[in-house]
Amino acid sequence: MRNREDRGQLLLGVARGAILVCAAVLMVLSAAGPADSATEDTAFLVAKGRVTYRVYCINCHGAKAKGDGTLAELLTVKPTDLTLLTKENKGAFPADQVMKSVDGREQIRGHGMKEMPVWGDVFQTSGTQPTGSDETAEERARRKIRELVLYLDSIQIVE
Ligand code: HEC
Repeated sequence: MRNREDRGQLLLGVARGAILVCAAVLMVLSAAGPADSATEDTAFLVAKGRVTYRVYCINCHGAKAKGDGTLAELLTVKPTDLTLLTKENKGAFPADQVMKSVDGREQIRGHGMKEMPVWGDVFQTSGTQPTGSDETAEERARRKIRELVLYLDSIQIVE
């Protein structure tokens, strides 16, 4: 028993240490200079969107988002080239429209996406909730879609 308690204490100590290190890193980072925090936040969201893309979208849309994922040839409709959304919208990234297409729940069946999964439903239940978060399933789905949309915005080819 005693041994177990010792281990518990040790783990607690390690956890406390880790938290202190994190706090210190955060303090250093936040003191690091005049970096625009809005830009940093966006970069973080884009990075998270990129991870989500690699898990959920890459098989159809491809590593470079050109619509040539490994599953693409099995589909009756070719996955959209997701790097040309801005170019095809007169140079402005159509964020609202992309958000709606990815969410998919507003689309009337038969008129919307034919092969694209309805991500607004999927993201309500998939993956893990951030620890200690009281985010609802709906908030979570919207957040993941927003991160994806920011990621897609970041990979547009406008030349
Ligand atoms: C099973 C294959 C498949 C997967 C997985 C997939 N897509 Fe698609 N996606 C498609 C196809 C096919 C289209 C073309 C439209 C259709 O479905 O009729 C499309 C279209 C789109 C469009 C363009 C919609 C429009 O307005 O023209 C966006 C944006 C998009 N997908 C984003 C995503 C994102 C983000 C993910 C990952 C969360 C994803 N897709 C995962 C197959 C897929």
